[in-house]
Amino acid sequence: MSTAINLFSPIELGSNSLANRIIMAPMTRLRAMGGIPNSLMATYYAQRASAGLIITECTMVSPMSNGYMNCPGIYSPEQIEAWQMVTGAVHDAGGKIFLQLWHSGRISHPSLLGGKQPVAPSAIAPVGELHTPTGKVAMETPRALEKHEISEVVEQFRSGAKNAKAAGFDGIELHGAFGYLIDQFLQDGSNQRNDEYGGSIKNRAKFLMEVVEAVSSIWGADRVGIKLSPSNTFYGMVDSNPQATFSYVLEALNPVGLAYVHLMEPNEIDLKSRDVINPVTPLFRPLYQGTLISNGNYTYETANAALADGSADLISFGKLFLANPDLPSRFKLNTSLNEPDPETFYGGGKEGYTDYPFLEKVAS
Ligand SMILES: Cc1cc2nc3c(=O)[nH]c(=O)nc-3n(C[C@H](O)[C@H](O)[C@H](O)COP(=O)(O)O)c2cc1C
Repeated sequence: MSTAINLFSPIELGSNSLANRIIMAPMTRLRAMGGIPNSLMATYYAQRASAGLIITECTMVSPMSNGYMNCPGIYSPEQIEAWQMVTGAVHDAGGKIFLQLWHSGRISHPSLLGGKQPVAPSAIAPVGELHTPTGKVAMETPRALEKHEISEVVEQFRSGAKNAKAAGFDGIELHGAFGYLIDQFLQDGSNQRNDEYGGSIKNRAKFLMEVVEAVSSIWGADRVGIKLSPSNTFYGMVDSNPQATFSYVLEALNPVGLAYVHLMEPNEIDLKSRDVINPVTPLFRPLYQGTLISNGNYTYETANAALADGSADLISFGKLFLANPDLPSRFKLNTSLNEPDPETFYGGGKEGYTDYPFLEKVAS
């Protein structure tokens, strides 16, 4: 008799063998002073090494990718060396770790970019405010990338992928979600170009596909994943037909043979802001023949149910992993969970970062 797949079933994720299907979702924590990872980050990630796979916080592929103060980067020798400390600590603790490669595009501000104007597919301002060195400010209208600059950005992703390899990661995830540059190209609310990178869905997906191709040339597609958020409304993201847009992307990715596609469900803000696709995973699952990670508000029970009914192959946990470094043990013992503290999500030191208690310490 076969037992149902559950969170503790091992899996081959592309060419990585994972001990379980409990994935740590990428989470920005803004503790990389000056864009350089540090030993506190190594401790934080190593504490969470019992995840089947850790996906790091989003990481800048170039200085122009900067959306937030103290986000890490992967474009300088110093950053590569500092990330080696993080990957070494995770590997020593028996874990696996992918780097999330990121360009923030229009989600930025001149004060984060050495005075330069943020870049985007089109000169359309995002909705919202941003923390900058001079306080909280409304985001400005970005400058539309010239066609020749688009290939330069693709090359920045390629060198980010190369640097991630030098830094000792097990693979990379492209941040194609949450209203950042790849997503800005994809959705027509932020892309009104009239060259081959705009207009039809195929054209809007061209940048994404070029970046996928570039980073796969370094890693092999079987060590590359991509995160997509078809129902995300953050920063004024909108598409006139998200079902058609994201269906196209999933079908276009089928022959590529990626390690995985990581799909994000809408959160409470998305559900309140307009009528979005909900749930996301079951709608798109039949279109994608490869491995699927589903994310968003999962609990132990709902995650196991999604694995058992085949709507996803793995589940990623954000806030629960942030607050529970030993989340897999806690799931296994079906025991209590630490509550995440939003006050310490972004920036600061070890408080709310490396001091969430482990189970043994709770019990003693
Ligand atoms: C503090 C915090 C930072 C986040 N930063 C990122 C990020 O850098 N990249 C990303 O793709 N998603 C990011 N997310 C979204 C999470 O990866 C995840 O999609 C979201 O938290 C929903 O999953 P959950 O309900 O299990 O927390 C972040 C979420 C949180 C709470």
